Amino acid sequence: MCPPTFFDVREPKNPHMGLPIDRVRAQQEWDNLRRSLQNLGLKVELIDPVEGLDDMVFAANQVFVGNHSSVGKFIVPSRMRYASRQKEVPFYVAWFRRHGYKVIELDLKGEYLEGHGDLLWHPDRSRIWAAYGFRSTRGGVERFSAAMQELGIEVTPLELVDSHCYHLDTCLCPFGTGSALVYPGGFTGASLEAIRNGFPRIYELSREEAVQFMGNGIVVNGSFLTPRLTQSLARILAQEGLTPVLIETAEFEKSGGSLFCMKAFLD
Ligand code: ARG
Repeated sequence: MCPPTFFDVREPKNPHMGLPIDRVRAQQEWDNLRRSLQNLGLKVELIDPVEGLDDMVFAANQVFVGNHSSVGKFIVPSRMRYASRQKEVPFYVAWFRRHGYKVIELDLKGEYLEGHGDLLWHPDRSRIWAAYGFRSTRGGVERFSAAMQELGIEVTPLELVDSHCYHLDTCLCPFGTGSALVYPGGFTGASLEAIRNGFPRIYELSREEAVQFMGNGIVVNGSFLTPRLTQSLARILAQEGLTPVLIETAEFEKSGGSLFCMKAFLD
């Protein structure tokens, strides 16, 4: 995770952005997330925030993190769509290099790829769900797929169509290999079908739930961290044996991000 010391909303990058940030509340929300992850048994590592990089707190985007028998621990650096965010990437790459990760650089030319915002491991690591449309581009996903295929990892491309759900992590949230939470309106018909084929049980989020980041939760050791809960989501979680843990992210939502965006899982 990256402390929100320099977090701010400066330039519109997605339809959620706009309001001024309450810095004290932002820090409290971030502290609460960090504490909750630790209480659930996770060890949290930090990267130093950098002045002027107002979105660096969204640690899910700068690199894709993996671990595979053929290479060991590796990352694939992103090419962020916004120039302001491209500056975050070298800091994250340096952090991962220092921690022993191999760096797989793609030749992304004019393409974009936004890390775990758009790239999600299938829970059994048998493949990667890779979305494009608003931030990552189809060409970015194609280059990523080619590199992963060389390692023997299958990649399933998905196309996003709702600008409020501009990253995959806002409209697809696997609970495990058996089930996933999906906002159907976020995808083309063919992409939705691919998701339905990938999980035995699919639970649907309404658009209202999705734009309020209920698909941007984090599954940790039997708990589901979410910024809010509807009756429908509560029922789904009960059915899947997951305990809801409510963590407010109002300040970060003003930047178009919530819980899932604020961390990267280390392999
Ligand atoms: N303000 C950030 C941006 O628009 C939010 C990133 C949210 N991250 C995510 N993984 N969905 O780039």
